[in-house]
Amino acid sequence: MEKDFKIKTFFGRRKGKGMSKAKEDLIATRMADFEIKLPSNGKINFLELFDFTPKKIIFEIGYGDGEHIVNMALKNPDVAFIGTEVFMNGNASILRKIIDNNIKNIRIFPDDVNLLFPFIPDNIFDTIFVLYPDPWPKNRNEERRMINKNNIKLFYNFLKDSGNLFVASDHPVYIPWTLFVMQNQDFFYWNASKSADFTNPPSDWETTRYEQKAITENRKPIYLNFVKK
Ligand SMILES: C[S@@+](CC[C@H](N)C(=O)[O-])C[C@H]1O[C@@H](n2cnc3c(N)ncnc32)[C@H](O)[C@@H]1O
Repeated sequence: MEKDFKIKTFFGRRKGKGMSKAKEDLIATRMADFEIKLPSNGKINFLELFDFTPKKIIFEIGYGDGEHIVNMALKNPDVAFIGTEVFMNGNASILRKIIDNNIKNIRIFPDDVNLLFPFIPDNIFDTIFVLYPDPWPKNRNEERRMINKNNIKLFYNFLKDSGNLFVASDHPVYIPWTLFVMQNQDFFYWNASKSADFTNPPSDWETTRYEQKAITENRKPIYLNFVKK
């Protein structure tokens, strides 16, 4: 499938006002051990980033504080996890978790995922997770949503055959938006045959901070699983 990399970034300020000195020090001293660097040419060799041969490679976009990717990585030590998060507070949080748990199977790109997209090879990921993405609910901002016409073509290319794209959200605009984007394409199918398939999380699901917030505030998360045709 033809690729269309439009590198647009929307993040003027990536460091939150409340970032502590301890977090700044952690990033300065330990980020290099886990950070994915962009190559000067060609694509990233994700396999070379790990000292074992992973059974699968899983990609998570916008991991926030990293709860989902860290707990998945702990449960699946033979799987490699690649994560991205643009805000540095989240990156300091995930670094703390990776170090404290001595995790060997996560590598992170601590910046805007749009900068990483051009360097991702085809057919590399088994699964892509987009969990509680920023909703950008106003119609005029719809091009900023992570699930969009252009990105799903990229995700199709990055996924192996029969690979999975998971989108979870509790947002009343984002769920219909995702279904709208996904109904206007023919390279993924929606893996659902009954309501429980999208109202219940998969059996091995690891929760996230935003998911917990949604549940506490009585909003219902929806779990959409699309499979590469
Ligand atoms: C609503 S939060 C959800 C965080 C986490 N997935 C959760 O469920 O708790 C969305 C996250 O996506 C990150 N994000 C948004 N756009 C991004 C981009 N272009 N590249 C990397 N991260 C991004 C934001 O910084 C934010 O942490």
